Amino acid sequence: PVPAYAALRKYGPVLPVADGYYFVSGYAAVDGILRDAAMETYDIKRLDSRWDDWRDNKALELFADSMLRSNPPDHTRMRRLAAGVFTARRVGTLRAVIEEQVAEALDGLDGTADLMSELCYPLPIGVITALLGVPAEDRGQFRRLAEALTAVLEVRWTPEDEAKAHEAAVELEDYFIHLVAQKQREPGDDLTTALAKGGELSGRELLGNLMLLLVAGFETTTNLLGNGIVLLLDHGATPPQSCVEEILRFDSPVQLTERYATHAVQIGNVQIEEGAELVLLLGAANRDPERFEKADEFWPERPNNTPLSFGAGAHYCLGAPLARLEAQIALPALFRRFPELRLTGKPVRRPRMNLRGWDALPVTLGTPE
Ligand code: HEM
Repeated sequence: PVPAYAALRKYGPVLPVADGYYFVSGYAAVDGILRDAAMETYDIKRLDSRWDDWRDNKALELFADSMLRSNPPDHTRMRRLAAGVFTARRVGTLRAVIEEQVAEALDGLDGTADLMSELCYPLPIGVITALLGVPAEDRGQFRRLAEALTAVLEVRWTPEDEAKAHEAAVELEDYFIHLVAQKQREPGDDLTTALAKGGELSGRELLGNLMLLLVAGFETTTNLLGNGIVLLLDHGATPPQSCVEEILRFDSPVQLTERYATHAVQIGNVQIEEGAELVLLLGAANRDPERFEKADEFWPERPNNTPLSFGAGAHYCLGAPLARLEAQIALPALFRRFPELRLTGKPVRRPRMNLRGWDALPVTLGTPE
C-alpha cells in the first residue's frame, strides 16, 4: 500500500483539508469530477484572481496559454485543432521511428548502465522532437530544460525552482519562436508545421501548446518507462503488452491534477461549494479498493483495467496512444535483449510530488540474447 493514500482513504473519497480546499482520492469521485463540465481547469482568469504576479513567471504564462490550462470555448478550439493533426495515423507512422530508436539505445548498452539516462530519457525525447520537427542536433538540451520547467506543474515549488523554470521557459520560448519561423519558411511533415498553418491559434497559444506537447510528451513517458522497469524487475515478470496499463495504474507517472468548482456540487456526503479547489489524486484513485480488486497488488494482466493516469473527460491525455506505444515497444524489447537484467543498487526517487519517477536506474545487463 501507499501509506499516505491508505491513510487518506480512511476519511472517505473526498476530504476537506482547508477552507474551500479538498483532496479527492476515490476513483468514482475523481472520474466524475474530471468528466463534469462544471469543474474547470486553472485558466488565465482564475490565475489572475489568485495571484497578482503570476505573469512574471514565463513558465506559468506559457502553460496558461496552452489547452491544458484552458476551458471552453478556447479549450475546444485548441483541442480540436491539435487532435486533427495528432491523429492515430500519425502515431501509427511513429512505430518504425520508435522501434529504430529503441534498437539504437539497446545497441549502445553493455555491461552496466543507468537506464534513465541511456533509455528512459532519450527515447521519449527522440520521439516527441521527431514529431515536432526539432532537428536531431538540438535535442541534447531538452532534458535539462523540461526538467526545470515541470517544477511549476507541482503542488508546491521553491523560489529557486520558480527562477529556474522561468529561465528555462525563456530559453524554450526563444527556441520555438525560431523553429516556427523556420517551419513557415520551409514547411515539413511535422506537428509544428501543422499547428502553425492556418492561423487558428494566436501566437501565444501556438507557443504554449508546442511547449505543452514537448513537456507533456516526454517527462511523463520517461517515468512510465522507468517505473515500469523497476516494477517488472521487482516482480520478475516478463512483460506482456497489457502490463503497460498495470504500470500506469500501480505507479502513475502523473499523481495528481486540479480543478475548481464553478458550481456547488454534492459528492457522496460532502457538499462542495462554488469556487472550491479540488486536488484530484489520480495515483490514489488508481489504488481504490472499491474499484480495483487486490488494488495494492501489481498484477500485469489485470482484467478490466482502466486507470485514471491519463485523466478523463475533456482534457484526457492527447498523447496516451503514443505513450502506450513507446512503452509497449521499449519494455518487451529491453527484457528480451537482456534477460539477466538486474538493478545494482536501490534506485532513488526524484523529489517530486506530481511527476513520479526515478533519478537513476543503475543496472547490470548480463549476457545479451
Ligand atoms: C493531458 C498524463 C504522455 C500530451 C494529460 C493529462 C494527464 C496526462 C493526466 C490530463 C491533465 C488534466 O486533466 O488536468 C500523461 C501521462 C503520459 C502522458 C501519464 C505518459 C505516460 C503524453 C504524451 C503527449 C501528451 C506523449 C504528447 C505527445 C498531452 C496533452 C494534454 C495532456 C496535449 C492536454 C490535453 C487537454 O488539455 O485537452 N496527460 N500524459 N501526454 N497530455 Fe499527457
